[in-house]
Amino acid sequence: MQYGFFDDARREYVITTPRTPLPWINYLGSESFFALCSNTAGGYAFYRDARLRRLTRYRYNNAPLDQEGFHLYIRDGGCVWNPGWQPVQTELDAYSCRHGLGYTVIRGEKNGLAVTQELFVPQGDDCLLMRVSLRNDSGAVKTTDLFPYLEFCLWDAMDDGSNFQRNYSIGEVEIDGAAIYHKTEYRERRDHYAVFWSNRKPLAFDTAREAFLGLYGSPARPEAVFGAGCTGSVAHGWQPIAAQQHRLTLAPGAEERLIFGLGYLENAREEKWEAPGVINKQKARAMLARYADNAAFDAALAALGQHWETLLGVYRLRSGEEKLDRMVNIWNQYQCMVTFNMSRSASYFESGMGRGMGFRDSCQDLLGFVHMIPERARERILDIAATQFPDGSAYHQYQPLTKKGNLAVGSGFNDDPLWLIAGTDAYLRETGDWSILDEIVDFDNDPTLAQPLLEHLRRSFGFTRTHLGPHGLPLIGRADWNDCLNLNCFSEHPGESFQITGPSEGPVAESVFIAGMFVKYGRAWADICRHLGLADEAAEAERAVAAMEKAVLAAGWDGAWFRRAYDAFGRVVGGRECEEGQIFIEPQGMCVMAGIGKESGEAALALQSVEDRLETKYGIVLLQPAYTRYRLELGEISSYPPGYKENAGIFCHNNPWIVCAETELGHGERAFALYRRTAPAYLEDISEIHRTEPYVYSQMIAGKDAPSFGEAKNSWLTGTAAWTFLSISQAILGIKPTLDGLQVDPCVPSFLRRFTVTRRYRGAEYEITVENPDGAEHGVSEIRLDGRALSGNILPVLEKGARAQVQVRMG
Ligand code: BGC
Ligand code: NOJ
Repeated sequence: MQYGFFDDARREYVITTPRTPLPWINYLGSESFFALCSNTAGGYAFYRDARLRRLTRYRYNNAPLDQEGFHLYIRDGGCVWNPGWQPVQTELDAYSCRHGLGYTVIRGEKNGLAVTQELFVPQGDDCLLMRVSLRNDSGAVKTTDLFPYLEFCLWDAMDDGSNFQRNYSIGEVEIDGAAIYHKTEYRERRDHYAVFWSNRKPLAFDTAREAFLGLYGSPARPEAVFGAGCTGSVAHGWQPIAAQQHRLTLAPGAEERLIFGLGYLENAREEKWEAPGVINKQKARAMLARYADNAAFDAALAALGQHWETLLGVYRLRSGEEKLDRMVNIWNQYQCMVTFNMSRSASYFESGMGRGMGFRDSCQDLLGFVHMIPERARERILDIAATQFPDGSAYHQYQPLTKKGNLAVGSGFNDDPLWLIAGTDAYLRETGDWSILDEIVDFDNDPTLAQPLLEHLRRSFGFTRTHLGPHGLPLIGRADWNDCLNLNCFSEHPGESFQITGPSEGPVAESVFIAGMFVKYGRAWADICRHLGLADEAAEAERAVAAMEKAVLAAGWDGAWFRRAYDAFGRVVGGRECEEGQIFIEPQGMCVMAGIGKESGEAALALQSVEDRLETKYGIVLLQPAYTRYRLELGEISSYPPGYKENAGIFCHNNPWIVCAETELGHGERAFALYRRTAPAYLEDISEIHRTEPYVYSQMIAGKDAPSFGEAKNSWLTGTAAWTFLSISQAILGIKPTLDGLQVDPCVPSFLRRFTVTRRYRGAEYEITVENPDGAEHGVSEIRLDGRALSGNILPVLEKGARAQVQVRMG
């Protein structure tokens, strides 16, 4: 069942009922000001950091669901309603929500009044804009009241939700014409404020929640809206809000448009005040003036559209397969931008308070983002590297506002260092900008320890190489990619974090997955060294990689698949002798991607085992059989009920590893079959089962052991975005950036007889048409660049601004 449809020409998903199976959200903003906005105008805004600079409140596990946001109340005659249906839930005569790239348009109609709410964050500015259009389609004059409403957060979302004894006394606002300023703590150490404004003077306003909603009122029944209107309240402590009341008289057929905004501004400490206790509003006034009329609003919206047009022009596919084109050209890349910006911090499943930017997460996000804005990827790599420790290990997370490593979580996740090589390698392949390796970057955010980025990569590689266990496999530490395989934790007390309880590193527990990573990214490191003329270092790295490959085939091979790990007692995890958890997806994906056992047959056997033992109709589950009881020696993985999350859920993130692995063996048919199984556009018509947004990937789909098999959770913020983009754009369609140029190496299903990829790469544009007349799965027989036959399959790097036609023949 569908709850809307894709409008590809406009790059929108159009939701046609407000009663979606879950709130279906969009992300507004892609630089420093962000808002999450659901299809009923729920959501919240923040500046850079969802924890430390939260601008508006959101209550995650509320009932009813999704009540806080950017709501508008319409009072028309005796009827109160919202164009997005929530929170009053008055039935509408018509409803739609268009989620587009960086904007959302919600439209509701009731009793002959059509109201449209357009929301977006303009490029280069720190504000959310909202235009409201009201059109009177009835035959009579209408006098309508319009109330926008939002609730301010007192900046630090964690503190805001817990330190009530202080917070109920500190709220402060200022009212200045059509603007409401939120300035809690501005009197002391904060040099920033928020402003909510409209481009027309309201009839009345409220800034105290109690006055607007009523003490025992709610967003679903605000007293001011249902009663006598706004009261002009001024918040002192308690809950500061911004609400306004506008009265409009509309002749039949008439339309009125109002522009609202929510801005974030900072003042230098010496310039904070325009009078004692009064905010210096100069910057806010300039912001208001920038969007004072419809022409300015339209221009900013058009600029956003142009921005996306440019970004999506870097990789564009024409395959004739509608759902595939839609995922590749629009939604998968869009989600890559969102994960790049958010890491795993703020979604409708991630509160924005728990985690900042993840080291491994952000490094992986780069893999799907780097082609879009390499300059931002560059900056991100340097930020991440600065949180690395001198021994090559790393802070597992850092806060985006401070860019400082998160002490509470610390380090000890032994896959982290190698992801830095993966991310930097992707950047080098995309850009050829070797100068990044010369950048001097702190260790442990300490400038006195700074070294060139190259040295950071060297220490990443060195850390893994020197932290090996009894079988010559890498020690797992607190966990590897699978945060829930906690082999050194042994937690017996509820509430302890599985990730940071126990010693950060035991001397025994080893990871076959990290071994696979070491082979894959160790080779990348060796290639980088060779490129730099460091031949000895490259050869030495290759020797270490070869030794690791041997160790994997000796101690990490179980007969028909790769083992997962050795626990703290040296016992096999993910082998046939295990009672449960006999086979895991991760080492099959990573080891085959690394080419381990490719020649000797283990790789093919491992993928066959995945098909036989892990595959389901909704995707590949993480492990089998699911753990049915808690196992102290394994940790969080066995804490989940069978079929959920890491305990045999369909973890979407590592499905594309298998897709890539299949292409490594030349299996195009199978790779695509797996690709489409979890691709959201292909799941649109089972939205009642899948439940999350049909335009983005979710972290997890409940596995076959779960009662809710097929139900997805944790949409949006997942490494799935980057890895699926990699799997389709590089592994299947075969357009692969390398250190030397763009390689063309498709591995496709037989139905794909012809496709074209337009790729902007290092400043030139390649239009690559692949012909596959005989339905080959893999192999290129001829490549012509502007008519000239090429030897090999790497397209030369062309001059900036050049355009080339590339004809590729498979078979
Ligand atoms: C989740 C993991 C996540 C980890 C770290 C666990 O509860 O299941 O997916 O990586 O927390 O935040
Ligand atoms: C989600 C985390 O963000 C990611 O870092 C981890 O690799 C996966 N869960 C698997 O546990």
